[in-house]
Amino acid sequence: MSSPDQQIVLVIGASRGLGLALVEKLTKSPTTRALGTVRTQSPTLQLELEAQLPSATFLTADITNEASLLSAAQQLPGGELDVLIVNAGMGARDPVTQSSTDTLAAYLDTNVLGPHRAIRAFLPALRARKTRKIILISSSSGCLTQQAMPDSIGLAGCYGTSKAALNMLAVQTSNELNRAGEGFTVVSIHPGWVATDMGNKVGDGGMPPAESASKILELVGRLETSDSASFYKFDGEKMPW
Ligand SMILES: NC(=O)c1ccc[n+]([C@@H]2O[C@H](COP(=O)([O-])OP(=O)(O)OC[C@H]3O[C@@H](n4cnc5c(N)ncnc54)[C@H](OP(=O)(O)O)[C@@H]3O)[C@@H](O)[C@H]2O)c1
Repeated sequence: MSSPDQQIVLVIGASRGLGLALVEKLTKSPTTRALGTVRTQSPTLQLELEAQLPSATFLTADITNEASLLSAAQQLPGGELDVLIVNAGMGARDPVTQSSTDTLAAYLDTNVLGPHRAIRAFLPALRARKTRKIILISSSSGCLTQQAMPDSIGLAGCYGTSKAALNMLAVQTSNELNRAGEGFTVVSIHPGWVATDMGNKVGDGGMPPAESASKILELVGRLETSDSASFYKFDGEKMPW
């Protein structure tokens, strides 16, 4: 059970990489109840993760499957949630002009429709508390201002297209909830270049996942409703759209 003064924080996509580092950091805070999700039911993986992080709880949710997200929402302690961090994502170098429309559709399904499914599934739980923070892990590849520069970097292509759409999802979600006076904080965060399976596709030299995770959580802790509909870098600097 969570005590009423504990913040309940859920990271969608926590089997490895940045998501797992976020859950690990969350478990270090005595005032936080840390939850993560893994994509498929795997007793071995769940046992492994719970052995590694005994105070965390791991649920199952495939972000491309609405029913699995709704089922995960049913399993939240007390049916309540303070902070939803949507971290799950796919990313590789898939230039739009060389990729099939089905490939682009797969990116949109995971990186845009997935977060939309997650937001809708967890809204009732977020509304049950006052904190009401929704954090979408985006990318500088989705930053139109940077990608339109002649020397832009990153995975770009289909991935960048999906992350730009994810950023708009953050803005529209924030506008709708806050114009109705619901007091939500909805932001996109670029985690920096992180040495994970995805980050290593760009090359060597990404920062350790734990470093990005700590900065992201410091930022999330500082955010207020007046910061909603913004795009941040992991270190708290505001990014242009
Ligand atoms: N690494 C970087 O440098 C970098 C830079 C900018 C943005 N990002 C963003 O940061 C986030 C985390 O990336 P990462 O570097 O940690 O990537 P990663 O190492 O490839 O991990 C991706 C995570 O997303 C999960 N996932 C993928 N598809 C899923 C699905 N359909 N349902 C549920 N979970 C799913 C994976 O679960 P499985 O283990 O089941 O596959 C895994 O936990 C992503 O949104 C990424 O776009 C990363």
